[in-house]
Amino acid sequence: MLNQNTYIVSNWKMNGTNALMHDMVKTFIEKTVTKKVTPESAHTNVSWIFCPPASLLTETKRHYPTINLGGQDCHPKRAGAFTGDISALLLKESGVYYVIIGHSERRQHHNESNAIIAEKACMAIECGLIPIICIGESEENYIKGQTLAVLNDQLTESLSGIRQHITQAPFIVAYEPIWAIGTGKTATLTDIEKVHSFLRKQLPDTPLLYGGSVTASNAGDILPIPHVNGVLVGDASLKVDEFKAILEAAGAY
Ligand code: 13P
Repeated sequence: MLNQNTYIVSNWKMNGTNALMHDMVKTFIEKTVTKKVTPESAHTNVSWIFCPPASLLTETKRHYPTINLGGQDCHPKRAGAFTGDISALLLKESGVYYVIIGHSERRQHHNESNAIIAEKACMAIECGLIPIICIGESEENYIKGQTLAVLNDQLTESLSGIRQHITQAPFIVAYEPIWAIGTGKTATLTDIEKVHSFLRKQLPDTPLLYGGSVTASNAGDILPIPHVNGVLVGDASLKVDEFKAILEAAGAY
């Protein structure tokens, strides 16, 4: 059974400071760990998953032990001579529960294929993390009406490892159209609903997130869309007031 959580994931990417981390976490932690949304949805919680740069993880956990922390990537291998990379095992040891895998910026700038992403997702699960696996089409795919076909391939290939080797392990899928990331453009509500209904048929029990220029002004329209279980937020998660309004839209205030 799909749980009734609403997930608000902040992906700071390679941004933020130690001081901003303290500001954010002090402001939001109490409201987002166990807060019930409405009497009608008494089992619904808003879970804030905070994904700062790796260098801030340990400090964040030390000061705020109840926080849901996420990494932004992990290596497909458990350990080894991979200078500059981070393993799922080390993330776990820093108090991390989640890890973003296959973000389009990793796919684009680090040439990550679906096959690598499938390996990373397996390793994350083996090390006790919950992967947040990202998929999304390019603007060209979108214009040509290829969105569902592209997502279907990405999903099948990126989940192949989990499906072959691991059953019943929890994971999350985030739909982030590449053309909507950091551009101020969002998919239309109809597009999001169409994609999420398509994903839900394949993944009945998996939390499904939307990401791509989510802001204070559109979160309230996106979160109630059927089969949207939360949002993955980049730029707006670095601004206290903007992020507060997104949490408000999710019912955390
Ligand atoms: P923006 O919210 O800045 O568009 O970034 C979205 C994203 O990439 C989250 O992972």
